[in-house]
Amino acid sequence: MIMPCIAQRDQNLCIFCGACRNSVTCPGGEVFSPDCIGCGACRLACPGSAIELIEDRGRRKNVCIRVNGTIFSVPEKITLKAALLHAGISFPHEERHCGVGGCWCCAVLADGNAVPACITCVREGMVIDTETYIEPGRVVTGFGPHMVGGVGTPVSIRNYSSPIEVACFTHGCNLRCPQCQNHIMAFTGGLEMKPKEAAVMLSNMRRIFRVHRMAFSGGECTLNRPWLIQAIGELKKLNHDEKSRIHVDTNGSLLTEDYLDELVGAGMTDAGIDLKGTRPATFQRVTGIRDAELARSYLENAWNSVKYLVENHPHVFVGTGIPYNRALISKEEVLELGERLARISKTVQVCVLDYRPAFRLKLEQPAVEEMIEIKKILNSAGLENVFVQTSRGHIGP
Ligand code: FES
Repeated sequence: MIMPCIAQRDQNLCIFCGACRNSVTCPGGEVFSPDCIGCGACRLACPGSAIELIEDRGRRKNVCIRVNGTIFSVPEKITLKAALLHAGISFPHEERHCGVGGCWCCAVLADGNAVPACITCVREGMVIDTETYIEPGRVVTGFGPHMVGGVGTPVSIRNYSSPIEVACFTHGCNLRCPQCQNHIMAFTGGLEMKPKEAAVMLSNMRRIFRVHRMAFSGGECTLNRPWLIQAIGELKKLNHDEKSRIHVDTNGSLLTEDYLDELVGAGMTDAGIDLKGTRPATFQRVTGIRDAELARSYLENAWNSVKYLVENHPHVFVGTGIPYNRALISKEEVLELGERLARISKTVQVCVLDYRPAFRLKLEQPAVEEMIEIKKILNSAGLENVFVQTSRGHIGP
């Protein structure tokens, strides 16, 4: 039994930023309209935490849909995902999805077209096919040059005066970081792009800006594994010269040994992996993941990924990203983190990110002196290649 939901805004919490109207792909046409289908995309994207989903106990008609040949009757104005759940079809590994129409992990065929089930409205007579193979797609934007790069960019090549890398940003994320700095990409959907299209765009950018590095960032680019593997494979085909580098910047939470092997096999040469603490409670605070077991497994995946790459793929450049703000992580835990990382590799690159006010969290940006102290703590743990992001630019190693 499905209880339809609708989005409701708390006027006292709303900061009238317009994110729910301007950046969310609203399948109801307009947020808070009578046609709301309760997908919750606006709730995730709201910087003010002003939107809740409430059960809609009003009378609704039912519509008939055909799912893999069987007819079901489901309430009108609900998401395809909810309708499929009603039909007994669930999405495996749902915790690894975005829920906002960005990653397209939930894509199904509806009346012959691939659509993201999480933000698509069910309609009378719809024919849904969840069994036929669909070429992966996902929302990708922000193709362009970068002078600094990301966590997996070697600090030694940064020159701050000309591009060193071209990148694109995949939409959708499995984390819910309250201080997300890329929240427009993390929490919004849109039109899909096929892997080859993204690879061609990045390759063209590489030639325009005369760089050798090409990066996938996000959002979380490792969501929708088939898409990323194919995109890297296509990029490798288009850039088979020795100078080309393919960089993946990730929160690391979804990476497993076989996924890493597949990424390296496809052509990944550089990986930037976030280590958001050593303690699951810290990870939960930083990422907004409420499920303690899920947070623990996400955090361990990130740590295991760094270790696995260092030990098994030494030709891959590995950079790690560590969050710092005293409201989120203590200096004792930074030391613990440094010691754990030094046991894996003393020379791995470490970039400490000074978490500042962004999205929902009104943090106080750490002072430059505080960031230098964090660098010294990590150096004292045995790490040799540490630099910190500060309001005066990067400092170190
Ligand atoms: S879960 Fe539907 S697009 Fe990401």
